[in-house]
Amino acid sequence: MSNQHWSSRYVFVLAAIGSAVGLGNIWKFPYIVGENGGGAFVLVYLLCIALVGIPVLIAELVIGKTAQLNPISAFENLSGQFRASRFWVLFGYIGVITGFLILSFYSVVAGWSLEYLSVFLQNGLLNSDAKAVEQYFSNLLDNPLQLLLWHSMFMLLTIIIVTRGIKQGIEKIISLVMPMLFVILVILVIYAIQQPGSSQAFDYLFTPDFSKIDTEAILTALGHAFFTLSLGMGAMMVYGSYLIKGTPVVRLSINIALVDTLVALLAGLAIFPLIFTHGLDPSSGPSLLFISLPNALLSLPFGQFFGILFFFLLLIAALSSAISILEPVVCAIEQKTTLKRNISTWFVGGVIWMIGVATLLAFNEWSDIRLISDKNIFDSLDYLTTNILLPLGGFGISLFAAWVLATKSNIRVSLGIDGITYKVWFLLAATIAPLIIAVIALKGIFPEWIPF
Ligand code: TRP
Repeated sequence: MSNQHWSSRYVFVLAAIGSAVGLGNIWKFPYIVGENGGGAFVLVYLLCIALVGIPVLIAELVIGKTAQLNPISAFENLSGQFRASRFWVLFGYIGVITGFLILSFYSVVAGWSLEYLSVFLQNGLLNSDAKAVEQYFSNLLDNPLQLLLWHSMFMLLTIIIVTRGIKQGIEKIISLVMPMLFVILVILVIYAIQQPGSSQAFDYLFTPDFSKIDTEAILTALGHAFFTLSLGMGAMMVYGSYLIKGTPVVRLSINIALVDTLVALLAGLAIFPLIFTHGLDPSSGPSLLFISLPNALLSLPFGQFFGILFFFLLLIAALSSAISILEPVVCAIEQKTTLKRNISTWFVGGVIWMIGVATLLAFNEWSDIRLISDKNIFDSLDYLTTNILLPLGGFGISLFAAWVLATKSNIRVSLGIDGITYKVWFLLAATIAPLIIAVIALKGIFPEWIPF
């Protein structure tokens, strides 16, 4: 049994939102919207959140809360208790491995936010032209030592917070950074929507053009629904395991998902108006935030100040997410071995740091190494975790919660719902969500099998 608990329901919600809101919302969401043509993609993404994300989030929290254990032991215990197959434990293991892999590239990108925070603080891009700003980012990626420095600093911060545990570490940092995050985001949106490009940005985000949607876009939207809600690897499960009995899980899940979605849309509204005002291309991909945005900011009034705010926002959003990726892995090692929390955190953090080094070398020394369909190490890890492992984990989690937990025990009290709402959740978690995941996954693997 886990011996740690959240101090209050409010801190839990804040921590879960902290986990959900991260690089996924501020860096990834805007650029994948850009790459996939705007409004129609946003719509598909919202559907994925509603039909798959929310039911799986509820499933994950209810498993954690019932078991009060790390993802591996949770599946072990509950499948024993309810006489279900041992094969479910596989999903616990997949989750923990996925955690290792995600944090190793997450930390590298979070490191870029440290670099840009420091350069904006020193006004180091002042008087640079567009070419120089672009060169700056490619110079950074070409410099393994610089990337290593920031990646190491970010991992160090994350490790130090996690070693201190839930109440002394995670809660403290969350209560500090989350209010800042909301305030900064609102300031940035107000600043951005006053720029001349804002009506173009609204059009771009909210007017769907379905000709831009293909299978790859749908797979990206589904994968991102998992990534942005921190689903499929047991992060929310572990946060749920620190809940006290009697907390209504469904209402909280819906609120968490709503805030996360709102933040992603607000991030879009903070970025795209600047991009359009400056006449830049919204579909520039991962460098949208690190080349296009600085370019736009530098030509605007108070650009330096808003640049500092922007990259500080990115940093704290990344930090409150990174701790939630490390926590389940540490929790699993701590509960499965006799290692103390301190030692487990440094050990796990160290291994992740090392995989991270391979990830950052993908941009320079090891750029020739190609793993999945001609992608470098970094892109392969991102693709493997976001588009394959997280949906697979979510598939298992929702089936387990519905067909094992819900059918063999009474979880309605724990969910805090009854009647029709319960039936809707069950229908989604037991059939619709797993079906959507399976169809989209099959379409990705065997495109000719599924006719759309
Ligand atoms: N949701 C976070 C983001 O959008 C990332 C994240 C945190 C995550 N914990 C996770 C992703 C667990 C997958 C699984 O940036």
